[in-house]
Formats: sequence, structure tokens, C-alpha cells
Amino acid sequence: MTPTAVNPQSIEQAAALLRQGKLVAIPTETVYGLGADAANPEAVAKIFAAKGRPADHPLIVHMAYALQIKDWAIDIPEAAWQLAREFWPGPLTMVLRKKASVPLAVTGGQDTVALRVPNNPVALWLLRVFGGGIAAPSANRFGRISPTLAQHVADELGDAVDCILDGGPCSVGLESTIIDLTDSQPTILRPGRITRSQLEEVLQTPVSLKSQHKIRAPGMLAAHYAPGTPAYLCEPGSLLNEFDALCAQGKQVGVLAFSPELSELPCEHLLHLPHEAEAYEAALYSALRKLDSFGLDSILVEQPPAIEEWAAVNDRLGKATL
Ligand code: TXA
Ligand code: MG
Repeated sequence: MTPTAVNPQSIEQAAALLRQGKLVAIPTETVYGLGADAANPEAVAKIFAAKGRPADHPLIVHMAYALQIKDWAIDIPEAAWQLAREFWPGPLTMVLRKKASVPLAVTGGQDTVALRVPNNPVALWLLRVFGGGIAAPSANRFGRISPTLAQHVADELGDAVDCILDGGPCSVGLESTIIDLTDSQPTILRPGRITRSQLEEVLQTPVSLKSQHKIRAPGMLAAHYAPGTPAYLCEPGSLLNEFDALCAQGKQVGVLAFSPELSELPCEHLLHLPHEAEAYEAALYSALRKLDSFGLDSILVEQPPAIEEWAAVNDRLGKATL
């Protein structure tokens, strides 16, 4: 499936495919999504088949307008409207109690539903023409790196998808922040561009962060958002030593770095990303895909600082590395 240029005809055609229960890959500001009509359980089932995703993993429902929260959720707290006013359209997903009418196929059998209004003109155009909600996970095979270009979707999902709308590169490049609003205390389930401090400032209440322990036991690796090549996180100070040691063993090594000191590393497969967190985020997934495509023995990833600005990157790198 080659990506389709966006114009009034292709948007109408994509909406028609969704109404027929087909799959449409859509650009969002975070990553490309693999979309289906969220009100049609058979269409939603095709998403799980195309991704190879376990059926108990819930999907995000994308909407054109914040007011559509009422079509999908009940017991909507004031906090949801506050966050919608401040951050939608944008890279924030809210988990709320689901309406009885929301298919369990969308929510992975849970009584909650995840909702988001994406900030991408193509996604919003399609959502408005389609009229309903579009259930969409990231448009990659389960456990792999999310796509940030239409071509990534084409490479990975091929003909399992009926249309790929080409919206160019995703501007944010990392998946949305997910906040659970179903408890008295809001909890971040996945960090993203919208930070904990930003959420706390709007809500005027503490927001907790679901702890994510990295499983280190062999065979139980938390491999998600992961390249196929083994990737390792290295402190900036130890990366050079690791690199030399692997090269001495005759290994083919790729390096993903951002600090100026590593920009001259004599490595054929060095990708040097911006030092600034937002620009790094936008470039990260393409860089990991590129390094993965070289068929190397290993990839060394320079560890960013453990500060809030880099929280989303650190979360994804933790999952992409061994
Ligand atoms: O930026 C994004 O969020 C992208 C674009 C396409 O919108 N989507 C995305 O979807 O990253 P996916 O399926 O790869 O990740 C969705 C996450 C999963 O970790 C899932 O567990 C969580 O959302 N989720 C969905 N519904 C949930 C629910 N009811 N309760 C808790 N977590 C939920
Ligand atoms: Mg995903």
C-alpha cells in the first residue's frame, strides 16, 4: 500500500472506507495511527489482527471536538474539561469511565475509555468528515517502534491497511501523555510532551506518576517501542568505553548520541540528534528505525539527563533498550 496524498477526494474516500469497516492509517502530531470506526467492533478487531496486538490492550478513541467526550464517557470530572480546554487539540489522552455503548473491543474489556483530540490538520479534517470516533493505536506491529512517517507505516503494515494518508512527518514524534482521571487523584500512565508540571498547574492538584519498573530478568525483557537490533543505554561517560570494547571484539556498532562531545565519534553508524529535548523527540523514532535498518550487532544509546524535560524520552528509551 503506497501512501495517499491528502486532498478533498482522498479524505472523502478515507471516511467512506472507515464507514465500510476498513482500516485507514492517519497522521497525528504524535505518531501515525492505525484507525477504524470506534463504534464498529468488527472493524476494531481488524486493528488487532493487523498489528498482532493482544486483544486485552485497549485503544485510544480519536475525536474532532472536545464536546464529543459525552459520546464516549460518563461521570466526566471537571478536570477533564479543564484539561481539554488547555491541551486539546494536542498530545494528551484522558482515561475516563466508558459509556455502556462503547464496544468492549475498543477498551480491551475494561470499563474505561481513552480519548484524545489530535492536533494535526489531516486527522482533524478526516474526523470532521467521518463524524464519529476513530479508534487508533500507533500504526506499527505490536512491540515495535511507532511510525512518524507515512512510509514507515507502508514498510511495516503493507497491505494489512486499506489506505495510508500521507501527512508528512509527525511534529511531536512521541506518543501522547496518558492521564487517568477515573480515581480521586489523577495519574499519568504514560509520559509525553505534556508534562506532569503542566498538568498539575492546570488542575491545581498533585498528579501521580505510575511507576514503571524495568524488568531485567532474561527472557522477560520489557521490549516495547523496540528496534530489532539489541540496543543498550549508556551514560555519556561510559559510551566511549563500551564502543571501543565492542569494536575491539569486531562488532558492528551503531550509536545514537546528542551531546557535542560525541559528535566526532569515529563511528560509521553514528546518528547525532539535537541536544534540545523537543527536537530530539521529533527525530528519535526515525533515527532508531534507520539504525535498525543497518543490520548491526548492537546499538549504543546515549542516556539523556534524568530531568522532567526528558521524561518521555527516558521512558521510551528505557523500553527500547535491554
Ligand atoms: O499519541 C498517541 O497516543 C498515539 C496516536 C496514534 O494517537 N496512539 C498510541 O496508541 O500511542 P497505542 O495503542 O500505541 O497506545 C495507547 C495506550 C496503550 O498503552 C494503552 O494501554 C493505553 O493507551 N490505554 C488505552 N485505553 C486505556 C484505558 N481504558 N485504560 C488505560 N490505558 C489505556
Ligand atoms: Mg503503540
